Amino acid sequence: MSLISISTQILNRGFAFSRGFSLPRRRLLLTYLIAMISILGISEVSLYFFLIGNLNQQLNRELLTLVQAAAPSLDRVKSEGIQSLDREIPWRDLFSNQDYSLEWYDSEGTLLARKGTNFPLAPLFQTLSPEKLTENSPVFQRQGQIQTATISVYAKNPDETSLMLEGYIRAGESTQEMELILNKLRLGLGLGGTTALILVSISSIYITQEALSPMEQGVYTLRKLTSDVSHQLRTPLTRISIATEILLSKTDQIQPDEARKLSIINTAVDQIKCLVEELLFLIRIDMTSNLRELEFSRVSLKPLLKTLEEKFEVIAQSKGIDFQTHLLSKVFVRGDSVRLTRLFTNLLENSFNYTDSGGSVFLSMKLSGGNVIVSIRDTGMGIAAEDGSYIFQGFWRSESAKIRQSEGFGLGLTIAHAIAQQHQGKITVTSEIGVGSCFQVHLPLV
Ligand SMILES: Nc1ncnc2c1ncn2[C@@H]1O[C@H](COP(=O)(O)OP(=O)(O)OP(=O)(O)O)[C@@H](O)[C@H]1O
Ligand SMILES: [Mg+2]
Repeated sequence: MSLISISTQILNRGFAFSRGFSLPRRRLLLTYLIAMISILGISEVSLYFFLIGNLNQQLNRELLTLVQAAAPSLDRVKSEGIQSLDREIPWRDLFSNQDYSLEWYDSEGTLLARKGTNFPLAPLFQTLSPEKLTENSPVFQRQGQIQTATISVYAKNPDETSLMLEGYIRAGESTQEMELILNKLRLGLGLGGTTALILVSISSIYITQEALSPMEQGVYTLRKLTSDVSHQLRTPLTRISIATEILLSKTDQIQPDEARKLSIINTAVDQIKCLVEELLFLIRIDMTSNLRELEFSRVSLKPLLKTLEEKFEVIAQSKGIDFQTHLLSKVFVRGDSVRLTRLFTNLLENSFNYTDSGGSVFLSMKLSGGNVIVSIRDTGMGIAAEDGSYIFQGFWRSESAKIRQSEGFGLGLTIAHAIAQQHQGKITVTSEIGVGSCFQVHLPLV
């Protein structure tokens, strides 16, 4: 058992003439934009974090140099006080340009001396345990807007073999300057990113246009050529048809064998005329798609479907198919009644063509949301699941369809799909092989 369920809204592989370029253009543009924005975004974020990392490293290096330079002085500060260093070190010069602080602690974590800016830093052991300091040295920390580096200082025991904890040195530096640099960086990246985004958007539109315009031009030329050729073929075909009919009518002047050959020619010409008409219809739908709103009027669906009901009632009787309808009054859509008639005719024709005698066809209407759904359900041969994606493609016919109905071009559903799209609608299909099919046309109500 195979059950298919497809919607023409998700079908994009239809006959080339029945599709515009707006969807591929939008997709191409979107893909290009997403790719470019991702590349831009990833580059900017990477650059930002790389620079932050560098700035932090630079800050930590400076702090480390400071604490390491101050380490030998801890012994002197402990024994003689900070004044002992004042004679040798020009503190004012050292800290004049930077927002630094330097602190000497004993092994108990008691602050012995401080030089430089008096930052509001927490007491040493409030944010750091002595164990952590012993295990890892140096330890870098951020307290608000101050970055610190702390090291443990050891001295050799009198026996010269082991080390004894002498105390700690902590250096601090304000991160304000770094924040200032980062703010400038963010601003630069933001401005650069926005400018790049604008340029990328403009170039995406241009590239998409350039990439698709040869194809668009090609399809337009092909359409025009098909339209012109089809148009030009009409007159000679009609002439051949008239001539063969005149000859066929003179039964007394032609041999039965010649009459048979003429009738074959006549049937073949009729088929070509039919194909030409179908192609012209399809091309016109496509070429007038931009003008559709102008041509449309308010169409009452019941009378339109009633006329079809009467027409197909005759076919139903001749084929021995049970034909039932359920039509709703006062249902209006905006559209072209000739084209809508064509749409429903094509679907009904299929149901009658692909349903055996004794089967049934049911034409019904229902309202759903702001739409009317016209269903054509049959108990015919059904459509195989693997064929579901082909049925709306131009010139595709299933093998069983070719056997049942030798005539046919495989354009009926392509035309129906194009008309539904032109009316802002869609066609959905559910089908089960050997059980039947249900084609539903969804159209917006007015
Ligand atoms: N109601 C249906 N039941 C079973 N198969 C169907 C039905 N409608 C369409 N199909 C399948 O879809 C194919 C395409 O249908 P379509 O109407 O486009 O072309 P066609 O009927 O073969 O030829 P024509 O151009 O004369 O309409 C059919 O050949 C058939 O295989
Ligand atoms: Mg058909």
